[in-house]
Amino acid sequence: MAEIISGKAVSAAKREEIKNRVAELNSKGKQVGLAVIIVGNNSASRVYVNNKKKACEEVGINSYEYALPEETTQEELLELIKDLNTNDEVNGILCQLPLPSHIDEQAVINAIDHKKDVDAFHPFNVGHIMIGDYTFLPCTPAGIMEMLKYYNISVSGKKCVVIGRSNIVGKPMAMLLLKENGTVEICHSRTENLKEETLTADILVAAVGKADFVTADMVKDGAVVIDVGMNRNKEGKLCGDVCYEEVEKKASFITPVPGGVGPMTITMLLENTVRAVEI
Ligand code: GUN
Repeated sequence: MAEIISGKAVSAAKREEIKNRVAELNSKGKQVGLAVIIVGNNSASRVYVNNKKKACEEVGINSYEYALPEETTQEELLELIKDLNTNDEVNGILCQLPLPSHIDEQAVINAIDHKKDVDAFHPFNVGHIMIGDYTFLPCTPAGIMEMLKYYNISVSGKKCVVIGRSNIVGKPMAMLLLKENGTVEICHSRTENLKEETLTADILVAAVGKADFVTADMVKDGAVVIDVGMNRNKEGKLCGDVCYEEVEKKASFITPVPGGVGPMTITMLLENTVRAVEI
C-alpha cells in the first residue's frame, strides 16, 4: 500500500509561510495584488478561478477579477493586459486558459509583462526555466517538486517518466526533474509501447487528461506516482489520470485526486505572486 502524498497538508504548511511573508510586506506598507482574467463561460475555469481568488483572500493577497464575455476580441483582451502591466496595484497577472478559439493564446501570454507573469508561461520565463535560473516556476510542476521535497523523495539519479508534453505541465515538469538530476523521459500520444516506458519509471508523472489512463500493469513496484489529471469519470465523479485503487497497491507513494496536485498548483501561484513583490 502506497503512502499518500497529501497536497492539502503540504499546501497548508506552505500557505502559512506565504501568509507571513504577505504580512511582512504589508507591515512595510506594501500590498500584494493578483489580477485574474477569465474569458467566457467555461465551467471548469470558473471553479479554478474561484478557488484561486479564495486562496488569495486566505493569505492576504488582493485579487482583482476581470470576467469578460465570450465575444471579447483579442484586441480588447490585449488592451486590458496592457493596462494591468502598468497598474501598480497589480503584481501578478493570470489569464485563465483555455481562451475562446478566436483568441490566440500565445499572443495573450506574450503580452503579459514577464515580471508579472505568475504562471511562468511567457517565453522569457520559459527560457529561464530551460537554463535553470528562474524567478517564476510554472505552478503545477513547482507544486509537484515541493511535494517530493516535503516527503523526502529524492529525484537525483532516478528514472523519471512524464506522460504528457504540454507547455503548462509536461515540458516544464521534465526540466525541473532534470534540474534535480533525474534521468528524464517525456512520453506522449505518439509514444510507441508506452507501457514499456512507464514500467521503467521510479517517478511517474501522469499529465494526460484522461480518466483512469494509468493502470497498475504500467507501474513498476515501488514507484512514486504523481497524478496531475483532473477529470470526470462516467459517473461524473472527479478523478485523476491514474486508476488509483489498483495503482496504490503497487506504488510506494501516490497523490490522490482531489487533494493532491490541485491544491499545490494554487499554492505555487500564491508563492509566485508574493515573489513578484519581494524581488
Ligand atoms: N488552465 C489550466 N491550468 C492553468 C494554469 O495553471 N494557469 C492558467 N492561466 N490557466 C490554466
